[in-house]
Amino acid sequence: MAKLDLPIIPQHVAIIMDGNGRWAKQRGLPRTIGHNKGVEAVRQAVRAAGECGVKYLTLFAFSSENWSRPEAEIEDLLGLLRRFIRRDLADLHRENIRIRIIGERQKLRSDILPLLLEAEETTRNNTAMTLIIAFNYGARDEITRAAIQLVKDVQAGLVDPQDITPDAIGSRLDTAGIPDPDLIIRTSGEERLSNFLLWQAAYSEFVFLPCYWPDFDRQHFVEALRIFAARDRRFGGLSDATTAVVV
Ligand code: FPP
Repeated sequence: MAKLDLPIIPQHVAIIMDGNGRWAKQRGLPRTIGHNKGVEAVRQAVRAAGECGVKYLTLFAFSSENWSRPEAEIEDLLGLLRRFIRRDLADLHRENIRIRIIGERQKLRSDILPLLLEAEETTRNNTAMTLIIAFNYGARDEITRAAIQLVKDVQAGLVDPQDITPDAIGSRLDTAGIPDPDLIIRTSGEERLSNFLLWQAAYSEFVFLPCYWPDFDRQHFVEALRIFAARDRRFGGLSDATTAVVV
């Protein structure tokens, strides 16, 4: 692969994979074909991220709100995730990729939870890249669970309420130990966060691509990195250029 000539590569990229259904509808195909093709795009995204030197890639695979879809579509999506883990785990492990799962897992069905735990356990010492799969994930649910844990820690005398800081909350989120996303990509032209990483996205850059997720490939990934590299991130401060004028 030719080296990317970009001044900066985001450490953490998160993706809202949207548009599988519309991709299928446009072609007169059932939604399930769109989801199937979406898994191919997942493989492309993981490969592209690794090749570009991204260290953390988060994919929004199934939201806590997706349970309201028709039963058949839910089964379809769960089946695809199960097959992805069964078929691709060995390859991901060989490529030294660590897998982490974020989302509510206490109430997960027995046909999916053990697979997710196995993927995490098998790859726990891998260091090339971390692939974070958001499954049964909703940011408000994640923050609520962190708040409950914090209250329990206060009640147990482990935390003094006066010492509660943003870090005390961050370290109780599912993403504890993972840096915040520098770049969040959403495909399909929709421009919203849809309950994804609400806490962690405080200073993320957003890139909205018009393509539907099944069409997403390495070129789209690199295009998003180029847009990101041209952004001026200030984190609430002043940019270097502005400082140069002010001083
Ligand atoms: C959005 O399309 C996509 C999803 C709800 C699921 C994404 C899941 C996959 C790509 C497959 C499994 C994931 C992994 C990690 C193997 P949509 O159905 O909302 O499309 P629409 O908005 O056009 O209807």
